[in-house]
Amino acid sequence: MSLTFAVAPLAVSPVLPSRASVPHRGPKAAPFAGAGATAVGAAAVVAAAVQRRGRVARRVRGGGEKTYVGRFDGTQKVEKGTTQGEEALAAEGTRGRSAAKWSVLSERIEGLAKEMYMLIGSIDPYCRDNSTAEGAAMKAIRQKMEDTDWAGLAESKTTMFSYGAEMSTDPVEAQFVKMLTYMKRPKQVLEIGMFTGYGSMAIAEALPAAGKVTSLDIDPYLKTWVEDVSKDFPEGKKHEIVVGPALDSLKVLDTSIKFDLIFIDANKAEYKDYLQTLMDRELLAEDCMIIGDNTLYVGYPILSETYDTQPARRDFGDAVREFNAWVRDHPKLEQVILPFRDGVSMIRLK
Ligand SMILES: C[S@@+](CC[C@H](N)C(=O)[O-])C[C@H]1O[C@@H](n2cnc3c(N)ncnc32)[C@H](O)[C@@H]1O
Repeated sequence: MSLTFAVAPLAVSPVLPSRASVPHRGPKAAPFAGAGATAVGAAAVVAAAVQRRGRVARRVRGGGEKTYVGRFDGTQKVEKGTTQGEEALAAEGTRGRSAAKWSVLSERIEGLAKEMYMLIGSIDPYCRDNSTAEGAAMKAIRQKMEDTDWAGLAESKTTMFSYGAEMSTDPVEAQFVKMLTYMKRPKQVLEIGMFTGYGSMAIAEALPAAGKVTSLDIDPYLKTWVEDVSKDFPEGKKHEIVVGPALDSLKVLDTSIKFDLIFIDANKAEYKDYLQTLMDRELLAEDCMIIGDNTLYVGYPILSETYDTQPARRDFGDAVREFNAWVRDHPKLEQVILPFRDGVSMIRLK
């Protein structure tokens, strides 16, 4: 379900206890996996990544429009600890209310609002608790992700950016991508933006025997983090991680390899450049399917600045809107944008 990231709000079920412990709120060193590499100019990319790491970090600290910033720390209202009591009061006050049980207008409005709240709050947990395609490697990644002190890693500058588990594809979206992989049966998959590799493990679990998924991520720490988990699973052998800025990595990928499935999920401001580079370098298989995540980016591409509750996101929202329009108007591309989680686009060559 990422500026780069969508910090999607958590739907908390007012009715259903969580069956699986899959909460999705709260909160990608090392050079390449060598053997059988996707024929990337590995050393070149690593060197570039190391050089740029300092530069990117400086840009980030100085602030800069459309520069990747990780999660949007500090843009949310600080919780004062009163929410639980207030929610309990509201639950008590609307107990038994429904859109059909009322005798005066105020009760009818309360009933309508209560049914909306019940449905809206229950959809995500219901889908999660009734989805069963999370495999063992995915589960191991998710559990480690939930146990990782992302704030501490950012504080100690171990990670390049501040991360949170909400930056990962959530269980339902990851299983959706896994199902697409089963349908597509790709030999070569490319993921741009890996984070903890929950999405790439979903893909790896569904790959045919000779299939391979290559993930590009800018943060060296994440490569080590993911490989520490994936080495214990057969899927790990199907997964290669290329460290470096994605645009640099894309420029050195071996053009004899054509990707059948591509998952774009890194810097939202760079989506157009990722796809343009893939097309210019003829890295797409003729019937390639491209999945773009966050193409509705918390609503910013749809709404005007008037509704910006987190103004720091506006440049990314505008970039996503430009990307969507660019794909829509491109003579060689067609897309469908699905209003699922933070918006998921399915794009193919005409
Ligand atoms: C939303 S997360 C990816 C989530 C992942 N696809 C999943 O399935 O969970 C975005 C990732 O993109 C990476 N990233 C951001 N800017 C990048 C860039 N310019 N090049 C490569 N990776 C980048 C971040 O380090 C982060 O790990």
